[in-house]
Amino acid sequence: MDFRTVIEPFRIRSVESVKFTTREDRVAALRAAGFNVFRLHAEDVLIDLLTDSGTGAMSAQQWAAMMQSDESYAGSRSFYRFERVVRDLTGFTHVIPTHQGRAAERILFHTTLHPGQIVPNNNHFDTTRANIEVEEAEALDLVIPEGRVPRALHPFKGNIDLERLDHLLSDHGDRVPLVMVTVTNNSGGGQPVSLENLHGVRDLCDKYEKPFFLDACRFAENAWFIKVREDGQGGRTPKEIAQEMFSLADGCTMSAKKDGLANIGGFLALNDNAWAESARNLLILTEGFPTYGGLAGYDLEAIAQGLEEVVEEPYLRYRIRSTEYLGEKLTAAGVPIIQPPGGHAIYLDARELLPQVPPTQYPGIALANELYLEKGIRGVEIGTVMFGMRPDGREQPGPMDLVRLAIPRRVYAQSHIDYVAEAVIQVAGGRDRLRGYRITSAPRVLRHFTAMFEAL
Ligand SMILES: Cc1ncc(COP(=O)(O)O)c(C=O)c1O
Repeated sequence: MDFRTVIEPFRIRSVESVKFTTREDRVAALRAAGFNVFRLHAEDVLIDLLTDSGTGAMSAQQWAAMMQSDESYAGSRSFYRFERVVRDLTGFTHVIPTHQGRAAERILFHTTLHPGQIVPNNNHFDTTRANIEVEEAEALDLVIPEGRVPRALHPFKGNIDLERLDHLLSDHGDRVPLVMVTVTNNSGGGQPVSLENLHGVRDLCDKYEKPFFLDACRFAENAWFIKVREDGQGGRTPKEIAQEMFSLADGCTMSAKKDGLANIGGFLALNDNAWAESARNLLILTEGFPTYGGLAGYDLEAIAQGLEEVVEEPYLRYRIRSTEYLGEKLTAAGVPIIQPPGGHAIYLDARELLPQVPPTQYPGIALANELYLEKGIRGVEIGTVMFGMRPDGREQPGPMDLVRLAIPRRVYAQSHIDYVAEAVIQVAGGRDRLRGYRITSAPRVLRHFTAMFEAL
């Protein structure tokens, strides 16, 4: 009989205590935070699933590499190691380190975009969208129709709609400076993109002579899904699959805080010499010299080592299985989630769970806040607060109202996940009591980070 238990592929020799609080403590903390979990003190959170970005545990090998870093301002050995690892993985000519993913986005878009242009993607993440809109260009989401329906089952729900992309490029190609695909599709539920789809994008980009960029934050998780779900890919290593994914593109933006297994960092990598030169000029202005780009030498070491560890099969098997495990428990209890479970997170469908709370009263905020108040778990709204504000200042319902429970890499054990499942199921059981919120103050851009709310 097959042995079914998938264990954490590591043992732990350094631990961090978590703080237990009472419900009264949490009510006070959330009130002080303006009912926005982003504003909580992290130590008031028991299990923190706000993000998988920069929250992972590093390996002994990463810490060892950091101790041996070269902190030279220019030409540091750590940069060359980082560059070698990124080139080996991606094949791109120019490797430009940045302090995190959005810095790579800002540099790419400030270098390449003009007002009125359009950048298609399966789904733009919030920082990607904001960095496009700040250039007065349009961020267009073209995920396949299944990718917009939480319960629809599809092995590659992150795929971009090739037909719509073809129409866009044929009708408005002159306004499209580049095509982007996000792997995995974070805003669409951490869903993967197939190799077949990436080949399709490459073909269209060749047809219309457009550069193709990956938002590669979770490239390794995407490669694992390709390995286990796509015909003919089972015998390949995740690294080989990732290399093929990158080989189809002309460049990528990367947040190393995800599949770089590092706590900070990112990069822009690309083949175009002229774009790379402009990008480096801007980098020097805002991030730093091109061999450190806003990072310490030890960060570059951590990322280089992380990029090698993240494609290891035992790690990816455990990683994807832990997320799926949480998804299975919630599904068995009838909690609506985006199906199938994504790579790095489970997305609770707050709009379906709380039909009494209309999107403009933020069901995602209501659910996220209740999870914190009841059991000390912090998730994040991905819905009308995050995506409902148009550039012209009007608000409309976001495409979905979700609460994302993102699982930090190599941090929580199975009992933590069991606790989360029990908590979500309990909160879902009391759903009828939950009411919406209204915003009392918010900035114009990326309002979800700092907005303040009041319960209705
Ligand atoms: C798909 C995607 N793109 C870009 C980013 C931005 O990366 P960073 O947070 O490092 O700026 C994120 C971060 O969450 C992301 O998930």
